[in-house]
Amino acid sequence: MSRLTTSTVWNALIDHQGEFEQIAMRDLFGQDPQRFNKFSLRFEDMLLDYSKNCITGETMMLLRQLAEEADVTGWADRMFRGEKINFTEERAVLHVALRNRSGKPIRIGGEDVMPGVEAVLERMRRFTESVRNGQWRGYTGKPITDIVNIGIGGSDLGPLMVCEALKPYGKEGLSTHFVSNIDATHIAEVLKRVDPETTLFIIASKTFTTQETLTNAQTARRWLIGKLGDKAAVGKHFVAVSTNAEKVSEFGINTANMFEFWDWVGGRYSLWSAIGLPIALFIGMDRFEQLLEGAHAMDLHFHSTPLEKNLPVTLALLGIWYNNFFGAETHAILPYDQYMSRFPAYFQQGDMESNGKRIDRDGQAVDYSTGPVIWGEPGTNGQHAFYQLIHQGTKLIPCDFIAPALSHNPITDHHHKLMANFFAQTEALMKGKTEAEAREELEAEGVSGEALEKLLPHKVFPGNRPTNSILLKQITPRSLGSLIALYEHKIFVQGIIWRVNSFDQWGVELGKQLAKAILPELTAEGPVENHDPSTNGLINAYKEICE
Ligand code: F6P
Repeated sequence: MSRLTTSTVWNALIDHQGEFEQIAMRDLFGQDPQRFNKFSLRFEDMLLDYSKNCITGETMMLLRQLAEEADVTGWADRMFRGEKINFTEERAVLHVALRNRSGKPIRIGGEDVMPGVEAVLERMRRFTESVRNGQWRGYTGKPITDIVNIGIGGSDLGPLMVCEALKPYGKEGLSTHFVSNIDATHIAEVLKRVDPETTLFIIASKTFTTQETLTNAQTARRWLIGKLGDKAAVGKHFVAVSTNAEKVSEFGINTANMFEFWDWVGGRYSLWSAIGLPIALFIGMDRFEQLLEGAHAMDLHFHSTPLEKNLPVTLALLGIWYNNFFGAETHAILPYDQYMSRFPAYFQQGDMESNGKRIDRDGQAVDYSTGPVIWGEPGTNGQHAFYQLIHQGTKLIPCDFIAPALSHNPITDHHHKLMANFFAQTEALMKGKTEAEAREELEAEGVSGEALEKLLPHKVFPGNRPTNSILLKQITPRSLGSLIALYEHKIFVQGIIWRVNSFDQWGVELGKQLAKAILPELTAEGPVENHDPSTNGLINAYKEICE
């Protein structure tokens, strides 16, 4: 058994969880009118209410002890100091340096990374300004109206999510498009909507070896040259964002048109780097820097605030409470803001690629559950789709409800209605509806006798379903920056407690290797026989259809 599961505090938490069979959240609220004040935290314009959780003061104390024993604070220091905490790839983990606005150096092996970071930000500023003010022109002399980002995973999801979330700040007359899937449909549909003379392609790939991105980039290049009739047009319509200058120039993009980042930036933590170029083009560099400032403010909070007042630590510990002691397998992220519709998808990669691991720091298989399945959709749509299961199903699904108090579109009473739903859902999930309450309600509706008894069990809500509510003043570049960093550090803390490496992603490699081997087989003569019978059968059926 592992060090973690044999620790005294772990076992104290197991015992303590047993007590919750007898404790209902609604009773805890009844017993303590101060519960909201005790279990809520503020950061700038953000309010985190975590009082609707199956917790008492003792729970939080034990969970914090778990964090202390895992040396979360020490590990955070190591990350901020530039130590190579990504131990399987021997890399530092310094996305915090990309948004370090303190003016202080951050060093890797003695070398300050900040001058490099600032130089790229400066280049981004010059470039984005020239595109936005029409100085940078396409090959035929027209200003740019459309940005097409070609990238996948971390080189897609972050810019896509942020451009969507900050749409109200976007420049009129400049549209962003994102192509990620190797399915030709993705690029084909985007190319149908853009004009080659006024389109700028950003080829975003940390490694510049990713099959999807390079295939889409080649297709875009062929399309552009075909439409404009000259190879020389590429220089005015293609820029690259990468750590790999050699591959960029091999592809045919002049490295003068390349924005650099570094191997100490993980793909899923890269939106703060030049990978954020589509964001900076869309909302402008000043606002991009506000996004960085918001994240930096959260970094400072995370790094310097005691555990009991620390928002990322609190979210992380609550996640561990349900994941490891209640057996929750998933965690829902539910933004009540249409602009935030891609936030759950973004953190699907952020969380699942980081903590979807089963080997610990000592190379041993873990004997406890690690990262949850992350999922979610914006409210209120989710309410009319999957909330049924959250309210009355057999699975415990801890949820984060996120909402801005101010809408960017204050039209009639839409926002009050949205927010009424936001508040109602967490209340309903916490309180539920007892049999007595359901009975009373049915009787008031005039239902009685056998009909009432038949319907009654279906009308009961067990309640006691945990939620966090994150209420922001408004989704702005700064507040979004803080919110993203909040989740990043939550993931960090959980990874430290679970003793996994949150910064590698070996699990994506096997499928890539096999696909590489299968690709030539799809066009080779005759049936394949070298796989398992299922894979052979599927490939051969495909080949028969394609012949
Ligand atoms: O899916 C694996 C992965 O390496 C992600 O971690 C990364 O964000 C994505 O592929 C894209 O990689 P790249 O930016 O190197 O093209």
